[in-house]
Order: sequence, then C-alpha cells, then structure tokens
Amino acid sequence: TAQAVLQSKKILITAGPTREPLDPVRYITNRSSGKMAYALAHAALAMGAEVTLVSGPVALSAPDGARLIQVETAAQMHEAVMTSVQSADIFIAAAAVADYSPVSVNDKKIKKQNDEVVILLHKTRDILADVSKLTHNRPYTVGFAAETHDLERYAQDKLIRKNLDMVAANWVGKDKGGFESDLNALSVFWHGGGVDLAMTDKKQLARQLMSLIAEKINEKNTI
Ligand code: PMT
Repeated sequence: TAQAVLQSKKILITAGPTREPLDPVRYITNRSSGKMAYALAHAALAMGAEVTLVSGPVALSAPDGARLIQVETAAQMHEAVMTSVQSADIFIAAAAVADYSPVSVNDKKIKKQNDEVVILLHKTRDILADVSKLTHNRPYTVGFAAETHDLERYAQDKLIRKNLDMVAANWVGKDKGGFESDLNALSVFWHGGGVDLAMTDKKQLARQLMSLIAEKINEKNTI
C-alpha cells in the first residue's frame, strides 16, 4: 500500500506563488493560493512521510508535523530547495514559480512619470529542472504543468525535456479548478503511461496523487 511505500520517506514539496520585487512596495506575482501543495503535504504526512514545505507567501498554515521553510522570491525558493533536496526521497514541484523576475530592483519607490513604462525581466533558474539534473541523490521527481491550451502536448514535453519521473498537468484560467479554487483535476503522465484524475476537492486529489506516486515508486523500486 501507499502507506508502506511512503512510511518515513522524506518528501520535499514547493508551494504557493513567488514574489519578485520591483521596488520596496511592489512585486510581480501570480494567483497560486498554495492549496494544492499544502493538500499534498497533508496527504503525505497522513501516509507516514516526513514532509518539508518550501513555501512562497500564502494564507494557509502548514500542517502539523511538516517542516516549513518560508521564502518570497524564486531565487530564495531555488536556494532553499537545493540545500534541502540532498536528503529528499521525493521532490514535488507544486509551486507556481515566477519564470521571470525584474533585472533590477529599485531601492526607492518608482515614481509615476511617463504614460508607458518598460520593465526589463530576466529568466529565473528552473528549480524543477535543476533537481532533475542531480546526479547524486536524485529524488523521485514530480513536476506540475499549468496550461491554458495543448495540455497533454506541453505536459509530455515537460516530462521528457526536464527528464521527470512524473508530471501532473492541470488546466488553468478556466472557471473551475487550477489556481485559487478548492477543486482541481489532473492529467498525470509518466514514462510509458498516464491517468486522468477527475475534478474533485484538492484534498481528495492530493491523496490520489500521493497514492499514484507510491505505486509508481513501488514498481520502479528505486528508493
Ligand atoms: O496553489 P493553488 O491555488 O492551489 O493552485 C495550484 C496550482 C495550479 C498552482 C498547481 O496545481 C500547479 O499547477 N503548480 C505549478 C504551476 C506552474 O508554475 O506551472 P508551470 O507549467 O509554469 O511550471 C512547470 C513546473 O516547473 C512546475 O512544477 C513549477 O513548479 C516548476 N518551475 C517553474 C519555474 C521555475 N523557475 N522553477 C520551477 O521549479
């Protein structure tokens, strides 16, 4: 059972949005509430795992028994993950990490001036890709894919390009599920297979995903 596979396994989960500052009072962020990731933490703990949550700013409290590392920016999340990942058996990237951050952060509040302004952004480091690239103590690595179109194609592409063990893809920008909602649905892919987990409460969905991860790890018998 999932309980037997996950018992005492160390699971590292990223959660929530990141905040990329522009100046002392402004930042770029996204609509992630952390509900999906925190539900995964709950489910994993209930199955006997040891859980570390690396979380961006959310309005949720961490489940009892989880180790919580709070971060703000994508760079901080990257650093926190890279220092904790060495001891992790499973890594789940459920956070909505900013893909781009401002090239420079103004130390003073940016004043209102022209009718149009240009903000220069550069790519952040991809936490999931860097974990997946580890050659020493690489955990079983699960990515998420948040897509508004061509869900299966992009999810399969992430699975292969980032060399993941599993990818959980969800539709976002629709009226049900995805960001902020209590509900979600996932199309899950691994090398050689996949399954659709139907729209349901994120807590229920998290239990289904954790069971699926346990099942696939058991089949691979790699950890
Ligand atoms: O938080 P909720 O409101 O409950 O919403 C849940 C969710 C929709 C945020 C969640 O289910 C989800 O899909 N999380 C991933 C969101 C995302 O950023 O997807 P993406 O397709 O842009 O990124 C792909 C993967 O790369 C993700 O696993 C992401 O965590 C990871 N990534 C992306 C960029 C980066 N710099 N580092 C990363 O690790």
